[in-house]
Amino acid sequence: MNPPIEISPATEADLEEILAIEQASFPTPWSRELFLRELDLAISRNLVARGTERVADTVSGYMFFWFVAGEGQLQRIAVRQDLRRAGIADRLMEGMLGLCAQEDVTRVMLEVRRSNEAAIGLYRKWGFQRTGTRRGYYPETGEDALLMEWNAP
Ligand SMILES: CC(C)(COP(=O)(O)OP(=O)(O)OC[C@H]1O[C@@H](n2cnc3c(N)ncnc32)[C@H](O)[C@@H]1OP(=O)(O)O)[C@@H](O)C(=O)NCCC(=O)NCCS
Repeated sequence: MNPPIEISPATEADLEEILAIEQASFPTPWSRELFLRELDLAISRNLVARGTERVADTVSGYMFFWFVAGEGQLQRIAVRQDLRRAGIADRLMEGMLGLCAQEDVTRVMLEVRRSNEAAIGLYRKWGFQRTGTRRGYYPETGEDALLMEWNAP
């Protein structure tokens, strides 16, 4: 069953909560300035998951992505640590793919750390397939990035 959450576009008012999740989720977190720039960028889209029950009115996860000339690039997805494995990322993915259908985006690409089993599991579940590898892509660890791609059915 889907958890009781709502999906909607992010606003500047969500940034404090987004930043807290970001800092707990990534070794090189995006800054407030970077998120603000994304909110202003014409090609940038985003979605925020907001709890409506146990975590009423708090941001439980978010996703930032670009749509350019019929193609998407997933930039960021993260869910609050204590709320993971409850289907929130599923709802965000569903939201993004729904926007793809609305905006005629037929291909979405992303990079993911080779060791990130949770994210790779999520992407596979939603039909992303591995298309290549970027050796040593992440400078802080030298870890490889897997390139993955979704194509509209
Ligand atoms: C990846 C992430 C967004 C998943 O969020 P989540 O809300 O916990 O995911 P969901 O509960 O919606 O799970 C959806 C699917 O993802 C996969 N998945 C999620 N967590 C997983 C884990 N720990 N191990 C393996 N697969 C996992 C599963 O396929 C799952 O489907 P299932 O429940 O039917 O098995 C979350 O772990 C996270 O925020 N990680 C840190 C940030 C990050 O690495 N982002 C991706 C790189 S940009």
